[in-house]
Amino acid sequence: MTADNPQLSLTRQQMQRFGQAALDMIIDHHDTLADLPVGKASDPQVLGKWLNEEPPEHGSDPLEVLAELNSNALNNTMNINHPRYFAFVPGPSNFASAVGDMLASAYNIFAGAWLGPSGVAAIEIKALNWLKQLFGYPSGSGGLFVSGGSMANLTAIAVARQVKLRGNMTNATIYFSDQTHSSVRKDLAILGFQPYQARIIASDAMGRVDVRALQQKLDDDRSRGMVPFCIVATAGTTNTGAIDPLNELAKFCQGEGLWLHVDAAFGGGAILSPTKRKLLDGIEQADSITIDPHKWMFQPYEIGCLLVRNEQHLSDTFRVQAEYLEIFDHSEATEQQINYCDYGVQLTREFRALKFWLSLKVFGLENFGAAVDRGFMLAKHAQTIIENAPKFWSICTPAQLCTLTFSSNLLDELPAKTAEAILINVVRQIMASGKAMVAPTRLDGKMVLRLCTINPRTNKEDIDFVIGLLKDTILKALNKP
Ligand SMILES: Cc1ncc(COP(=O)(O)O)c(C=O)c1O
Repeated sequence: MTADNPQLSLTRQQMQRFGQAALDMIIDHHDTLADLPVGKASDPQVLGKWLNEEPPEHGSDPLEVLAELNSNALNNTMNINHPRYFAFVPGPSNFASAVGDMLASAYNIFAGAWLGPSGVAAIEIKALNWLKQLFGYPSGSGGLFVSGGSMANLTAIAVARQVKLRGNMTNATIYFSDQTHSSVRKDLAILGFQPYQARIIASDAMGRVDVRALQQKLDDDRSRGMVPFCIVATAGTTNTGAIDPLNELAKFCQGEGLWLHVDAAFGGGAILSPTKRKLLDGIEQADSITIDPHKWMFQPYEIGCLLVRNEQHLSDTFRVQAEYLEIFDHSEATEQQINYCDYGVQLTREFRALKFWLSLKVFGLENFGAAVDRGFMLAKHAQTIIENAPKFWSICTPAQLCTLTFSSNLLDELPAKTAEAILINVVRQIMASGKAMVAPTRLDGKMVLRLCTINPRTNKEDIDFVIGLLKDTILKALNKP
């Protein structure tokens, strides 16, 4: 038998039938999400068979393939968008951005270089200009969209290393708090730093870096011949939503000649709220800022962003020449016309800016700001419920940004190991029920519950429900009526 479709093409009617069916699935998903389970596990037997399928020799009807996809994969997944998903930092995306992703993929856009009449690079430049403006960055600053917060932090540290160390990493040291996201340690390892070169500083009870401890460590290191070059501050720690003292750290870094990178992967979303953005005061003084629009800027995965105060530093770090790329240099790239492949790791880049631009155009900043404000309101609401039940609950850290941590007094009375085993079991049971998703974390070694309430489709009733569910499940686990 010979293949009869070597061009891998579909007729207009076939595309319409296939595309419409897929679009109907997407619309249905968005429209009914709140009524679906937060997550549903696959039947291991069905999944096992499906996993071991041989590569298909012959094609199938696209609608049959979509049905298979639906029943075997999409229906059995964790719905990160779900209004009762409160674990980690949720990813409450939006439909307009999903359309943006669909268009970017369908047009298969190369967003690596300004080639000819590049409307594509223009959209990335525009979207970045909006972010630069929101974050108070001056002209001469720049940035790029990347896959997420981890990649933005990696890119930032690579730039800091280039600018401050000129590539000589011997004895170089970098400072950040014990609440800094794990991606920073991973990024340092990728960049070739040894674990001892990462200096971890204690944080206070709310999770903010202790600047006095930082100064002591730095003085001590300098006296031992180390070469401090960078501080990574966090604006919105993953554990508790804490924001390091940004103004103080900016002054500190200026005085010490250090690069200040602010990881605002989580907290950066607060910039969209006219009433809350003052929480990030001082961020505009950072040498670089990680933003993660696929978190609290409501974008679908993947889109992270790095802003750098001096745009030139990006190309100084990442620009390499190759004979097959010379055409990029002879394009009309100017200050307004950028080859983004010279600004980061990727040469071929997807058109991430499109979804961000499209959703901002469709909803406007005012709606994004209101969505962020809603998250603050929901976290405060959760805090009030917990505080109103002091016999059962204790607050560990109050609502900071949209995150609060708390524990059950009944569990606190038990030996730590027993309490932890029960808590893990409780969280697993809730996850398996599909009614909500909550994940614990650890503060000062103690396992605690944590809610992150950034989904604007969450209602106060969802918060009431999940706290009630946690309480009931804990009581049941303790055999208490
Ligand atoms: C503060 C912070 N930084 C960095 C990251 C990593 O971001 P990503 O998962 O997009 O790589 C996260 C993820 O939750 C985060 O909370």
